[in-house]
Amino acid sequence: MTRPTATTIAWTLALTAMMTGTLLAQPKGYNYDEDKVPQYTLPDALTCEDGTKVTTPELWTGKRRPELVKLFEENVYGVMPPAPIGMTWRVYEQSDQALGGKATRKQIAVYFTGYDAGPRMTILVYIPNKRTGPAPAFIGLNFQGNHAVINDPAVTLNTGWMHNRGDTVKDNRATEAARGVASSRWPIEMIVDRGYAIATIYYGDIDPDFDDGFHNGIHAKYPQLQGRDDNFTSIGAWSWGLSRALDVFEQDDDIDAKRVAVIGHSRLGKTSLWAGASDERFAMVVSNCSGCGGAALSRRAFGETVKRINTSFPHWFCANFKKYNDNEGACPVDQHELIALIAPRPVYVASAEGDQWADPHGEFLSAQIASRVYDLLGKQGIAADASWPKVDQPLVTPSVGYHMRTGKHDLTEYDWKQYLDFADKRVK
Ligand code: GCU
Repeated sequence: MTRPTATTIAWTLALTAMMTGTLLAQPKGYNYDEDKVPQYTLPDALTCEDGTKVTTPELWTGKRRPELVKLFEENVYGVMPPAPIGMTWRVYEQSDQALGGKATRKQIAVYFTGYDAGPRMTILVYIPNKRTGPAPAFIGLNFQGNHAVINDPAVTLNTGWMHNRGDTVKDNRATEAARGVASSRWPIEMIVDRGYAIATIYYGDIDPDFDDGFHNGIHAKYPQLQGRDDNFTSIGAWSWGLSRALDVFEQDDDIDAKRVAVIGHSRLGKTSLWAGASDERFAMVVSNCSGCGGAALSRRAFGETVKRINTSFPHWFCANFKKYNDNEGACPVDQHELIALIAPRPVYVASAEGDQWADPHGEFLSAQIASRVYDLLGKQGIAADASWPKVDQPLVTPSVGYHMRTGKHDLTEYDWKQYLDFADKRVK
């Protein structure tokens, strides 16, 4: 793996401090005033590039949907390689005594190219022991290593480059002290008690989150997908990794691969949306505080803008996306169409009141406007005349859910409770 330079590390640390709210919850110089949102016209999810109006589910599925997937690849997230032919995996640790006997823990090493020395990811999964068949599951990437989601000494301590969030992790390598530091975002016992398996992967296993010109992580295996305007990106790689986990679950008798909800927070919420949009095997999608490049409408330029995200995180999106810096209106897609790509499968979008950087209102509008596609497919989403729900008052329709929680940019137990309730009737 290529080591980051001192400058990249300094940048990562500064940005991280910003993200965790220790420096700036709301960077200055950006618009946080609804009255100053520029006038914009959104592309219509139900009008094809050639002007054809999408009036039937067949036209959506056969023509507009594939066209939109391609537009997102070309303009936003870049292309992804197909599933690698030689991929292998091995359950290297398993115990049915996890969580005091409530769950079976498995740790699965996935070798993307079939070689132990090649790029690999480790899936950590807890499966409820109380179940009658294969369990429905949630899967999400984590920021700080599998060892950080739970204080369980049996979980392998990740030895790779760690995203440093100003906690106990020094020199970007995890130590024993990092066990469980992210557990507030992963209420594993609660999820298992509710009858779901919960699976997670450290996102840095798939691609370390810094701009190294796409030489490390899985990108190293696909140099031919670089040097082009729709290049294979980091968000693309993380999403691709989630799909590879689904490949593994399809062969695992304990997990029902047809009932897997993909969840993600922040940049990993952008990732869960793209994973769910590009891989229709995901049964449900949750976007938690995903903001710019996730659920929020780019054209509103409220809080974080396309220019800002492309400047701070050039590796997240493809080269073409840079064309829309200060020029969002020129992009042939906007983010409501990303949510529409999840239809007819259930989707839940959540914001936090204190996370203006992510444009909560823009996240809601996206989900609401995408609901037209749900309607076309015979599913009920958010009504066109519904108003933006008040804080802590979830708006849940049969296929689209939304809430804005009090508090800051985070993934909390409150959020998880809403997702579990939503999943109960739709996935479980
Ligand atoms: C930064 C970035 C956001 C992103 C967030 C995160 O704040 O600007 O777009 O969602 O990091 O992933 O934590």
